[in-house]
Amino acid sequence: MNHILQQQLPHLKSIVEGKDLLISLRSLVDIFPENSCFSTSFSMEDQVITDVILSQNIPVTIFTLDTGRLFPETYSVWTATNEKYGQPIKAFYPNAGSLEEFVNTKGPNAFYSSIADRKACCYIRKVEPLKRALAGKSLWITGLRAEHSKDRQGMEPLEWDENNQIIKFNPILHWNTEEVKRYIETNEIPYNVLHDKGFLSIGCQPCTRALRPGEDFRAGRWWWEDASRKECGLHIHSN
Ligand code: ADX
Ligand code: SF4
Repeated sequence: MNHILQQQLPHLKSIVEGKDLLISLRSLVDIFPENSCFSTSFSMEDQVITDVILSQNIPVTIFTLDTGRLFPETYSVWTATNEKYGQPIKAFYPNAGSLEEFVNTKGPNAFYSSIADRKACCYIRKVEPLKRALAGKSLWITGLRAEHSKDRQGMEPLEWDENNQIIKFNPILHWNTEEVKRYIETNEIPYNVLHDKGFLSIGCQPCTRALRPGEDFRAGRWWWEDASRKECGLHIHSN
């Protein structure tokens, strides 16, 4: 079954090639009307895509992974988004048993102890819920942008995600920051106010800080780790 899905990739690429955000989203979702989903962390990028999906009534399930450790500002933009479009964003939560065991064994802030514990926390709070959110889907839409990291510069807008056995569409991969901000401003879309306080890439509260002048896009994520590839396991890129 997934083999058949993967084989469609060249054809799907030819459909989105050179198309704008709305047309490319519509064309792909037309092919998978029951099986398309979009993951949002309520970043500016994600808010652009949410706006197109909900204002144009494109049949896509929009979900967020509520790790339980998000910023209060993120819950506010989530609420404002539900209110603006009148369609609640669906939440997926960590498995309660796994989380209880982890926190009761390692403590509530284990992510600062070691990279292994940080990755275990990301697995329980994000990666495993993501697997449930993607189950039975054929198309996964994300707000990934190439500017955000070296690894992401090697990505393509439409890819086969071997890890999740799904077609992954990153429709604004090559938008720049100005284009994203302009879309948000022009269309008066709610956004995370932390973006006005020096935060660029926003994840969980204990693992995200504001950027200092001159720092790169992801310097505020897991800032205590030296590793050049600071990913949480949601986006594993095999190239
Ligand atoms: S992460 O891997 O470092 O956490 P990042 O914050 O850059 O990811 O976001 C990239 C894309 O991953 C977002 O556009 C969104 O599609 C997805 N994503 C990240 N965090 C979440 C989340 N908590 N819930 C749903 N999707 C998310
Ligand atoms: Fe846990 Fe931090 Fe990963 Fe959030 S970003 S899941 S708090 S380690």
